[in-house]
Amino acid sequence: MCGIVGYIGHGNVYDILISGLKRLEYRGYDSAGVALVAESGQLNVFKTMGKVSNLEAYCAQKDTQAVLGIAHTRWATHGEPCDNNAHPHFSEDGKLAIVHNGTIENYQILKDALAEHGCNFYTETDTEVLVQLIEYIKVQNNCELIDAVREALKQVVGAYAIAVVERDNPDQIIAARKSSPLVIGIGDGETFLGSDGTPFVEYTKNVVYVKDEEIAIIRRGEPLKLVDFNNKESKVNVDQLQLSISQLEKGGYPHFMLKEIFEQPMTLTDCIRGRVVNGGEHVMLNGVFTNIDKFKNVNRIIIVACGTSWHASLLGKQLIQDMCQIAVEVEYASEFRYSNPVITDRDIVIAVSQSGETADTLAAIQIAKSKGAFVFGISNVVGSSIPRETDSGTYIHVGPEIGVASTKAFTGQVMVFTMLALSVAKLRGTLTEEQIKDFASYIVRVPELVEETLALDEKIRHLSLIYTYARNFMYLGRGYSYPVALEGALKLKEISYIHAEGYPAAEMKHGPIALIDSEMPTVIIAPKDHLYDKIVSNVQQIKSRGGSIIAIVTKGDTVIKELADHVLEVPEVPECLTPIITSVPLQLLSYYIAINKGKNVDMPRNLAKSVTVE
Ligand code: AGP
Ligand code: GLU
Repeated sequence: MCGIVGYIGHGNVYDILISGLKRLEYRGYDSAGVALVAESGQLNVFKTMGKVSNLEAYCAQKDTQAVLGIAHTRWATHGEPCDNNAHPHFSEDGKLAIVHNGTIENYQILKDALAEHGCNFYTETDTEVLVQLIEYIKVQNNCELIDAVREALKQVVGAYAIAVVERDNPDQIIAARKSSPLVIGIGDGETFLGSDGTPFVEYTKNVVYVKDEEIAIIRRGEPLKLVDFNNKESKVNVDQLQLSISQLEKGGYPHFMLKEIFEQPMTLTDCIRGRVVNGGEHVMLNGVFTNIDKFKNVNRIIIVACGTSWHASLLGKQLIQDMCQIAVEVEYASEFRYSNPVITDRDIVIAVSQSGETADTLAAIQIAKSKGAFVFGISNVVGSSIPRETDSGTYIHVGPEIGVASTKAFTGQVMVFTMLALSVAKLRGTLTEEQIKDFASYIVRVPELVEETLALDEKIRHLSLIYTYARNFMYLGRGYSYPVALEGALKLKEISYIHAEGYPAAEMKHGPIALIDSEMPTVIIAPKDHLYDKIVSNVQQIKSRGGSIIAIVTKGDTVIKELADHVLEVPEVPECLTPIITSVPLQLLSYYIAINKGKNVDMPRNLAKSVTVE
């Protein structure tokens, strides 16, 4: 996790670093810090616990003049969040400073070895070990910083994106990556670096995505140079950053999360643009049609993902099974990677990730590839690691998601799975042309139906006041609504810190029903589908035990309306499209409950947007 920024050029170094850190704060916000190198060869490090705004206040009276600098916003993995463990970290002689995103797995072995050579350590972090190692090698070998970094990284096991500066060199930043993201922005006489392109989007669109085990040598007035661990130079490929500054602003909403919830009619339109063509005549997901043989002859699909993307994957499974008659398994990427999975060359592994940087999902991709699977990625962030590591794939195209709690990415992922399932069904002939056309004509209407659902906003805001102080929640659904229940519960947990359980509604009677009483509200997702009558019985079971019920139902529902304490009515759609609609009121409910409790919905405690550590 964590965000790193770097800058060398003629602009105001400190201001560029601070504004860059603010854009990366979604990646971690335990502490923040900057290392600034002044023209005179002075190295100042300022760091403090908490958000970037704390750092700004702390630096207000400091001398922040500089000609280059690096900065960090932390999500602690080694050592508690405190001023001392905040990055940047110094080498012992104070000549080097480093920022690091990732984890050094063999840090203890390296630390013990360095201690034997007389090194002292002042923080609990793994990162400090790396900067000490670089310094040790530099002094022992009497070599340049670049050579010391290269030698040090050869000894490191783990994940890193690092940037290192030297007190005595106001003209150079050395950066490198392995398994954590690192992007370099090439400006006019200035160079930026970041965990993604957001820190420098207003300055340049020319970007270089640093590859694993590549080291970047960024020198004032010289072109960017990339070398590998054997000092072999590699080609610098310049890509175009697909991001605009307006996408990174709140656009009048109090929080990114609310903005992103309300953006969904637009993001779903972007998601289906060019893929459902002729007003709903055809579905055309490019990644499928460029791999016809793979999808036509596939034996089994395994989907790997984490968190919300895993919930979207459960819906993907249902969609693909229903429409394509293909066996599908869904695995947590973190379990899959260590499970010695049995994979054949007729299996397709689909990796799903909003950020495209989730460490467990990336590792799962490597395992699948090593076993010969064809790996297909579904991601949101263009140019992120997962699209680059997979054999083929598709983007959900919902624009930057800044709120840590995923909303529009979830509905985008489900929409992509729907289009993927229809495309594969067409290839395999498991649905008739007429059926495909029928679904497709509904898909184009989904954005307006989500818009209609968002009109529940005011009603949900009022409803949230009744339940703000509930201590536990149950979320229940069946069939397509079961993953929606899981996602609804996750949203509530993440941002309001209320304990919530998502369950398949019928499983409730096998245990969780014991929890039901007047203090435990249940959210039931019960649109009109083929399991509707079954879920009515579950509603009755809860009612008869004194539980209060909030039900998401299809407009015009009369039966559940009678039983539930509150109903939220959503427009009718075919069963397989209900999750995109029914998840929207659940997003709003958790948002308002968290707001009522005064929580920071965009940056909930302990979480980060991009989980680049194990
Ligand atoms: C979503 O609200 C979460 N913050 C989290 O579960 C997230 O979905 C998970 O970490 C996976 O992220 P990814 O989609 O970027 O891979
Ligand atoms: N492992 C480092 C630390 O704990 C960096 C963590 C991160 O990537 O956020 O400080």
